Amino acid sequence: MNIPSKVQLIDVGPRDGLQNEKSPVPAEVKIELVHRLQAAGLQEIEVTSYVSPKWVPQMADNHAVMQGVKRQSGVRYSVLTPNLKGFEAALLDQPDEIVVFGSASEAFSQKNINCSIAESIERFAPVVEAARTAGIRVRGAMSCTVGCPYEGEIAPERVAYLAGLLKGIGVQRVDVADTIGVGTPRKVQRAIEATLQHYAIDDVSGHFHDTYGQALSNTLAALELGVWNFQSSVAGLGGCPYAKGATGNVATEDVVYMLHGMGIETGIDLDKLIDAGAYISDFLGRKPNSRAATALLNKRGS
Ligand code: HMG
Ligand code: MG
Repeated sequence: MNIPSKVQLIDVGPRDGLQNEKSPVPAEVKIELVHRLQAAGLQEIEVTSYVSPKWVPQMADNHAVMQGVKRQSGVRYSVLTPNLKGFEAALLDQPDEIVVFGSASEAFSQKNINCSIAESIERFAPVVEAARTAGIRVRGAMSCTVGCPYEGEIAPERVAYLAGLLKGIGVQRVDVADTIGVGTPRKVQRAIEATLQHYAIDDVSGHFHDTYGQALSNTLAALELGVWNFQSSVAGLGGCPYAKGATGNVATEDVVYMLHGMGIETGIDLDKLIDAGAYISDFLGRKPNSRAATALLNKRGS
């Protein structure tokens, strides 16, 4: 076992989390959430996406949000860009990293971005080239690496295939995503090992939704392989509009509680993170979807 001594977390709550909310969340609230996350010590924040507002209306305020964030040095702000139109729009807001998002499942690729896996790579290639020319980092999200809402179980070979295609067009690092949270530790490890055929361990991150309550176990399984980059969502926000029934990412609070308990550094102040989660949960009119946050908020109250 190769458990790392430091972990870098990307909070995807403002994007993966809030993209899925039924009622609109004003740009000011999203901006305040980003400010609270950076104040809590998050060094990477996935802020928004430049996708069709007809497909994902919650992200239509991408410019307002990116322009409104008072950036902190040392923090990397990333955004999703599915095509050149999205990249050109994002460029005006100068993200530090863009994310192209592909799928290991053909059916999910069609439902989510309206094209096949092969077509998605053709669309991503000029985006990656333009980003790298502009000095912007490029990450690739790989959806449905263990299971797909339309196709069921996904074989590791299909993850390796997608990772190879992304590597081939110059994507610098990739996320192994369990979009619908059906994965269990060994399956997640196989998806990561498939990715490692093309990417070094430092360039692989885990992105686990918690639908079946497996995301922390899957995080630990990834740590055992030496993965030290993870995406999580403050207050466990979110889901994907094209993966019905899937819940949010593993809560950042739960991951931080586990990592700190294992003596792994994150640079994050758990109390401030819990405040950030309470802030957005209050706005949404519900409790944070995090066991650690709930326990620590109860302890504060008692
Ligand atoms: P399309 O309809 O095939 O695109 O959609 P098109 O090129 O034919 O254009 C159709 C219309 O969309 C045109 O407008 C374009 O201008 C517009 P119209 O002439 O009809 O008025 N358009 C755009 N507008 C704004 N920004 C753009 C853009 N591109 C075209 N970038 C498209 C293709 C990718 C745009 C569409 O399918 C889409 O927006 N999909 C949204 C996908 C999405 O955001 N999904 C959620 C994020 S992925 C996720 O959550 C998974 C992840 O967390 C990892 C995991 O857990 O698995 C990352
Ligand atoms: Mg996701």
